[in-house]
Amino acid sequence: MAADPPEPPDQAPAPAPTPSDPGVASDGARVVRPRRAAPAEAARVTRAEINLAHLRHNLHELRAVLAAAAEGRGRRPARIWAVLKADAYGHGGTVAATALERAGVDGVCVALLEEGIELRQAGVRVPVLVMSGSHGRRRDGLEALIEHKLTPVVFDAEQVEALANAQRYMQSTRASEGPLDVHVKIDTGMGRLGVRPEALEPLMGSLRGRGELRVTGWMTHLACADAPEDTVTKTQLARFEGSLAEVARAGFDVSLRHAANSAAVLRWPASHYEVVRPGLALFGVHPLGAAPPSHESEASSAPRAPRLKPVMSVRSEIVALRELPEGASLGYGHTWTAARASRIATVPIGYADGYSRALSNRGEVLVGGRRVPVVGNVSMDLTMIDVTDLPHVTVRDEVVVLGEQRGRYGSDAISAQELAERSGTISWETLTSVSRRVPRFYRHP
Ligand SMILES: Cc1ncc(COP(=O)(O)O)c(C=O)c1O
Repeated sequence: MAADPPEPPDQAPAPAPTPSDPGVASDGARVVRPRRAAPAEAARVTRAEINLAHLRHNLHELRAVLAAAAEGRGRRPARIWAVLKADAYGHGGTVAATALERAGVDGVCVALLEEGIELRQAGVRVPVLVMSGSHGRRRDGLEALIEHKLTPVVFDAEQVEALANAQRYMQSTRASEGPLDVHVKIDTGMGRLGVRPEALEPLMGSLRGRGELRVTGWMTHLACADAPEDTVTKTQLARFEGSLAEVARAGFDVSLRHAANSAAVLRWPASHYEVVRPGLALFGVHPLGAAPPSHESEASSAPRAPRLKPVMSVRSEIVALRELPEGASLGYGHTWTAARASRIATVPIGYADGYSRALSNRGEVLVGGRRVPVVGNVSMDLTMIDVTDLPHVTVRDEVVVLGEQRGRYGSDAISAQELAERSGTISWETLTSVSRRVPRFYRHP
């Protein structure tokens, strides 16, 4: 399958670092930004294809879910702030953000300050929420955050103090005007980041009367929205609402609340509030497997199951073929031995590309639209597959590791979820593991 010419943002040279760019540390050390293999430089046949039409389709599907759920509850549909951390789950942060912004996404969320700056430098204009809470304790990091109009998430008094000081300094140099928007995270049971409900009062005290900061959002994160049992999510939502009632009583504006990841968008209409934060579902992967049931049984408030389309596929080619006699072994550790005379193909993808070593003697790939097994240990750059049952296979035939393929032997697909299950992990890790040496080609059909 031919790929489109590479997307310009992926190839644009990194802008020269400025003193407030995290490319230059406060001690003057130059930090070189990691650079992924650009498609134009890609000599190897292994590549990821990113289908931006599918990304837009998934955004529209989630919007339809939110609209249906809102109608059932007599509310306005929640807005979508796409979670694009970790380079948009391996799909390319700037390209995904740009495509979603053009499709009308309301905001984006990243984990890191650096990720937010990268999006701003690519011209992204919608609000960018930096969720990790670690905005750099040094002033240069905070100045970069303010300069790029990023919205930090805060949950302790020390962050509030540091951000207020940095904002005051930026105002004094006229680099920033007005207050800095911040969102507050409440830990309702994830036990990871956020102010505990019982510690809200002192945090509100530290925020009160700070003209430099303006709290424009309140958030929490759900630990078990994708789990079959409901108790944890119900408890977390109840704690969130209890905390928000306290916050409102204290005089703060609580008109922007968010809690829902992909699973909660699909299963928990009560968690939609004003904004939702889906990541995985936008990339076409169901967080709960195929079509997840809503936990709410009344049809009127249960969101409809979206038809998501996978955005990423990973393809390679056969680069070598050999005939092995019965009894011959192959690969590191000789973990596979031919039970019959076998035809073995070598594919240039390995664990350094994100094709997990756990798929050794377990994985399957597609050749000519048919599944064939991975044999022997997956190595750093290469994987062997058994094509004995496909008589016409030759060197240069396409191999699909993730995605669908139609060919002379049939038609089939390998999902991120299947890859994750076979390698003993989750779809999130499978997607974010596709490493930077796998060039991304962008399709704009
Ligand atoms: C705070 C936060 N919100 C939302 C998300 C999006 O989750 P998902 O990819 O399951 O939709 C994540 C991702 O892990 C997250 O950490």
